[in-house]
Amino acid sequence: MLTPRLPSVYNLVSLETVTSTNDEARKLAAQGEEAAPDGTIVWALEQTAGRGRRGRQWTSPKGNLYTSLILRPEVPAREAAQLSFVAALGLYDSLGTLSDPGHQIHMKWPNDILLQEKKVAGILLESESSGDGGLDWVIVGVGLNVASYPEDAAYPATSLRAENWPTTVDQALEAYARSFLGWANRWVEEGFQPVRKTWLQRCMGLGEPLEVRLETETITGIFKDMDEDGALVLDQDGTERRIAAGDVYFPAN
Ligand code: BTN
Repeated sequence: MLTPRLPSVYNLVSLETVTSTNDEARKLAAQGEEAAPDGTIVWALEQTAGRGRRGRQWTSPKGNLYTSLILRPEVPAREAAQLSFVAALGLYDSLGTLSDPGHQIHMKWPNDILLQEKKVAGILLESESSGDGGLDWVIVGVGLNVASYPEDAAYPATSLRAENWPTTVDQALEAYARSFLGWANRWVEEGFQPVRKTWLQRCMGLGEPLEVRLETETITGIFKDMDEDGALVLDQDGTERRIAAGDVYFPAN
C-alpha cells in the first residue's frame, strides 16, 4: 500500500478493506484521545458498507478515495456542522490543485462537490457531544470519485477519470489533507464567516430556482442564501424558508 505524504499534524491509519471508514473512525474516537488524537485520519482502499447522507449507501470499489478524519475541536456541539463546509472547501481547493484550469467545480448544498455539474464527492459528518454542550469528537467522512462513479445515483455523478483528469488516490488524499488544513486553521482563527462567504461564492445556483427533496415532500423556491447555521434559505414567493436537511436539484436535472 502506498504511503501518502501528509502534513505532520495528521496521524494516518491506512487500511485495505473496511465496512466504512466512518465506522473505523468512530471505534477509534470512542477509545479516547490517546488512541485517536485530533487529526487522526482513517483511509481505506475499499468499503463494503460505505454510508452516504440520509441513510443512503455509498458505493465504494477500489480506486476511489474513502477517508474519515477525527477532529476534537473546542467548540460548542451546535457548531460541529460547520466542519462539513470547511471540508467541502478543502475538497474544492484540492481539486483545483489536481486539475487543469477550465474544469467547472461547484459546491452543492449542503456538502456535495460538483465537477462539470455532476457529483464527484460527498461528505458525511458524524459527531458525539460531551454532555456539557461541548463536542467529544467529530468525524468528517469524505468520498471522492477518482476512478469510477455510480451510474445509478439519484443525482448524476462523475469521477476525475471520467472527466479526463488522471490522478491517484494517494495524490488525492495528500491534496485534500493539505487543503483541509488551510481551511481548518482559518475556521479556528476567524470562525464560520469566511467559510460561509467563500462557500457562497463557489456554490451552484445562488439566486436561481431550486427543488429540494425533503423526507416527506419536495419544495421549490429561489436559492437565497446559506445562513449562519449552514441552513439553506429559500425564497418561496416572498416567504423565507430555512432548510436544515434535504437534497437539492436544479431544474434541468
Ligand atoms: C454523501 O454525499 O451522501 C456523503 C458520502 C460520504 C461517503 C464517505 S466515503 C468515506 C466515509 N465513509 C463512509 O461510509 N462514508 C463516508
